[in-house]
Amino acid sequence: MEVTSLCLLLSATLNIHPHRSHFFWYEHIALSCETAALTSGNWTVKRNTSSQTFEPCSAGWGIPQGSSCIVQYAYPADSGVYWCESEQGCCSSSLNITIAGGAVIIAAPPLPVTEGDEVTLSCHYREDENGKATSNFSAKYYKNGVFRGTYPTGTMTFTSVSTSDEGFYTCEHPTQGESPQSWMSIRGRAQPPPLPPPPPPVLSVPRLVCIILLIIVYVVLSVVCVTVHRKWARARAEAKRASDQL
Ligand SMILES: *[C@@H]1O[C@H](CO)[C@@H](O)[C@H](O)[C@H]1NC(C)=O
Ligand SMILES: *[C@@H]1O[C@H](CO)[C@@H](O)[C@H](O)[C@H]1NC(C)=O
Ligand SMILES: *[C@@H]1O[C@H](CO)[C@@H](O)[C@H](O)[C@H]1NC(C)=O
Repeated sequence: MEVTSLCLLLSATLNIHPHRSHFFWYEHIALSCETAALTSGNWTVKRNTSSQTFEPCSAGWGIPQGSSCIVQYAYPADSGVYWCESEQGCCSSSLNITIAGGAVIIAAPPLPVTEGDEVTLSCHYREDENGKATSNFSAKYYKNGVFRGTYPTGTMTFTSVSTSDEGFYTCEHPTQGESPQSWMSIRGRAQPPPLPPPPPPVLSVPRLVCIILLIIVYVVLSVVCVTVHRKWARARAEAKRASDQL
C-alpha cells in the first residue's frame, strides 16, 4: 500500500496541554499524539524551529513518553511548528507554538475551532518566571490590530464563533503592555446533505373533501333518481289500471 493511502487509515491528532499556542518562558508543555483506538502504533512528536528541521522529541528538546513528549522548561528557541509522525512517515496536522519573551500572552485555541462553537480567549500576565500567571484583570482585545473592546473580566467569549472571526488576536494588560498576536482558525461546519423531497401524501385534505363531496352528490342523485323513477312507475301503473277499467 502506498504511504498516502495508508496515512488516510492511520491518522493522529497532536494535542497540547495547556490548550493554547502561546506560552511563557519556563512553562511546562505536554504534547501528545492521539490516534483512533484501532490504529495505535508508534507516533513521535517532531518539530521545525528556526534552527532545526524534522527534530524528533528524542533529540533532546523534550522527554519522550510513549506517543507523548514533555517539554519541561520552554524557551523562546522552542517556538516553531510541531506535528506527530508515525514510523511509516504519516503526519498529523501541525500546530504553531510560540514561547513569548514578554509578560503578557493571549490564550487562543491552538487547533482550528468549528463554526458555531463557543470560544473564549483569555489574557495572562506573569510578573516574572517565579510569579504565578494571573488573568484576573480588565483586558483590551484587538483583532488584526483593530480594537474590539475592553473586557472587565479579562476574557472575551464568542458564544457562537463564525468564519469571519478568524484572524490574529492580541490582548492588552492595563499597565503591562500587549501580548504577541495569536492566530485563531475557524473551520466551516460541514453542510448536512440536502433532504430528499418528501413523497406526495396519498390523500391530501382537499382531495379527501372532494371525494366526500362526490360521494354525497352521488348518493343524493341516486336517491332523487330512485324516487323520481318510483313516482313515474306508480303513475304509469295507475294510468294503466285506469285504461284497463275503461
Ligand atoms: C519543516 O521544514 C521542512 C524543511 O524546511 C519543510 O519541508 C516541512 O514542510 C516543514 N514541516 C512543517 C510541518 O512545516
Ligand atoms: C504556522 O506559522 C506559519 C508562519 O507564520 C504559517 O505559514 C503556517 O500556516 C502556520 N501553521 C499553522 C498550522 O497554523
Ligand atoms: C480579581 O480581582 C478583583 C479586583 O482586583 C478582586 O476583587 C477579586 O477577588 C479577584 N479574584 C480572584 C479570583 O483573584
